[in-house]
Amino acid sequence: MWKIILVLWLIYALTWNYFLIRKAPRTKKAGRPTRGWGNRTRVLIIGATGGTGRKLVEQALEQGHKVTAFVRKPAKLKIEHENLRVVQGNVMDLPSLEKAMEGQSVVVSALGHKRLLWPTKILSRGTENIMRAMKNNRVPRFICESSLGVGDTVGRGGLPATLLFFPLVLPFYFWDRVRMEESIVNNTDVDWVIVRPGRLTNGPLRGKYRHGFKIGNYIWGGKIARADVADFMLAQVSDDTYIGTAPGVNY
Ligand SMILES: NC(=O)c1ccc[n+]([C@@H]2O[C@H](COP(=O)([O-])OP(=O)(O)OC[C@H]3O[C@@H](n4cnc5c(N)ncnc54)[C@H](OP(=O)(O)O)[C@@H]3O)[C@@H](O)[C@H]2O)c1
Repeated sequence: MWKIILVLWLIYALTWNYFLIRKAPRTKKAGRPTRGWGNRTRVLIIGATGGTGRKLVEQALEQGHKVTAFVRKPAKLKIEHENLRVVQGNVMDLPSLEKAMEGQSVVVSALGHKRLLWPTKILSRGTENIMRAMKNNRVPRFICESSLGVGDTVGRGGLPATLLFFPLVLPFYFWDRVRMEESIVNNTDVDWVIVRPGRLTNGPLRGKYRHGFKIGNYIWGGKIARADVADFMLAQVSDDTYIGTAPGVNY
C-alpha cells in the first residue's frame, strides 16, 4: 500500500514542479537609477514589518536612503529614524499604494504571508498593484523578493523541498509566486530585478554570499540569512547588472 502512495506522491510532486517551470527572464536595458533629495535615493519598502523587510528598512537607513515603510500595522514596525516615513496600507488596496508611491525612486518588496493552506492572490495581485502604482507615479525601478524553486530554478531548492515541502505545504503559495514573477517579467514599464533566495534564516549579516543564475543545488538546496538577502536587494538599487533577470542568492 505504501508503495502505491509513494508512487502517487512522486507523480503529483513531479507534475506540480513541472508546472512551475518557466523560461529564464530576458535582460532588459536599464534606465539610469533616478535619485531624489540630492544624493539620497528614496526607497519604498513593501512588507517592512516582515523578516526581510525589517532588515531592508534598517540597512537602507544605515546607507543614508530616505525610506518609506509600507505596512499594514504601523505599531508593529518599532523603528524610528528621521529619514523614515511610515505609510499604512495594504497591497490589495491600490489607493493606499498610490499614497506611498509619490516621489519614490525605487520600490523594494519583501512581501509574504502565512496563509499557506488555501489559494490566495496576495503575491500576484498585490505585486500587480505595486507595479500599477509605480507606473502611475513614474517610479522606475522594482526589486522583488521571490524564491529558488520557481521558473528556471525548479529543483534548486533541494530534493526534500522539491519533492516534499513545496508540494505538500506550499503548493498554492508557489503557484501564486509563479504568477507574481510572470506579471513582473511581462511588465515593460519598470526596470525590475527578481531576487530568488534559498531557505531564509535569521542569522547575522555576513556580507559574503553567492549570487547569479546557478545558485542552489538539486540535493540539499541551501540557505541565506534575511539580513544578507536585504544586503543583496539594496545593492540592486544602484547596480544595473541584474536588471531584467532573476538571480539566485545563497551562501
Ligand atoms: N521562509 C523561507 O525560507 C523563504 C525562502 C525563500 C523566499 N521566501 C520568501 O521571501 C519573502 C519574504 O519572507 P520573510 O519571511 O522575510 O517575510 P515575512 O516575515 O513573511 O513578511 C512578509 C511581509 O509582508 C507583509 N504583508 C503580507 N500581506 C500583506 C498585504 N496584503 N499588504 C501589505 N503587506 C503585507 C507582512 O505584513 P504583516 O507583518 O502585517 O503580516 C510582512 O511585513 C516571502 O515572499 C517568502 O515567501 C521565504
